[in-house]
Amino acid sequence: MTGRLRDKVAIVTGAASGIGRATARLFAAEGAKVIGSDVAAVDQAVWEAEIEHRAVFVQHDVREEEQWRAVLAAATDRFGRLDVLANIAGINGVRPDHTPAQEPEAVTLETWRWIQGVNVEGLVLGCRLAIAAMRAAGGGAIVNVSSIAANKGWPVRAVYGASKAAVLQYTKTIARHCAQQGWNIRCNAVLPGPIDTPMLRPPGRQLVGGDGRAGVDHVPLKRYAAPEEVARPILFLASDEASYVTGVGLLVDGGVSAKK
Ligand SMILES: NC(=O)c1ccc[n+]([C@@H]2O[C@H](COP(=O)([O-])OP(=O)(O)OC[C@H]3O[C@@H](n4cnc5c(N)ncnc54)[C@H](O)[C@@H]3O)[C@@H](O)[C@H]2O)c1
Repeated sequence: MTGRLRDKVAIVTGAASGIGRATARLFAAEGAKVIGSDVAAVDQAVWEAEIEHRAVFVQHDVREEEQWRAVLAAATDRFGRLDVLANIAGINGVRPDHTPAQEPEAVTLETWRWIQGVNVEGLVLGCRLAIAAMRAAGGGAIVNVSSIAANKGWPVRAVYGASKAAVLQYTKTIARHCAQQGWNIRCNAVLPGPIDTPMLRPPGRQLVGGDGRAGVDHVPLKRYAAPEEVARPILFLASDEASYVTGVGLLVDGGVSAKK
């Protein structure tokens, strides 16, 4: 099927890599006018060619309110409106040397603020500005990327899990609030399980968990997902096909959460 986002204007954060890059590509293929953003620089010509020149890239740190305004202006000045925001940018707070510690007895406020700053505060800023723009456009859809880490205790990713739980809770609140106000703005989250992206495969290292097969025993489907397998559920929630879906956290985890 094509055209599920025909004539919609969408902002996709985290669009340089992984799930965000796959989502920007899919949104554009489905007819959206896409503003992709990321704090990381991309080779703009390569990035835009990959998306067949149906999207533009803006460098953007989600923690910076002024930069959010510039991204939003890229959508509204250029295309006149905003219909979809996919908040995908995020960090798990794990550096290649496995620091800093996130366990509760060791975590520093610096670590806490670093991870919450990107995963939660950046998303809060984006939602606020998007809601205003979507109200002006008569409605819209926000899709936030949480994680299965939102639902479980995970000591070595304690701060990451807390940030993703905040994303899920905030998603439900936005959904309810916008519905109560009659703003025609839906807000949903996806909760990915293990996805084969640079987050789990940092430069110079193999997939976290081993050789790409080891470490998947806990996944009923016995594999990590490709980023496109998360982009498609994000597309569904962003599109009018999900017109009666708001406030959900959609698990995209190969069955991990079905266990126990
Ligand atoms: N890969 C997984 O297994 C997995 C599982 C659950 C949830 N997620 C979530 O999916 C989302 C996408 O992650 P991914 O797996 O594609 O990883 P990724 O590292 O490939 O992509 C994340 C992108 O976010 C960008 N980013 C980081 N900090 C930013 C900032 N301050 N401002 C703007 N952009 C910033 C990075 O530059 C990167 O391009 C994240 O929110 C992550 O927490 C991933």
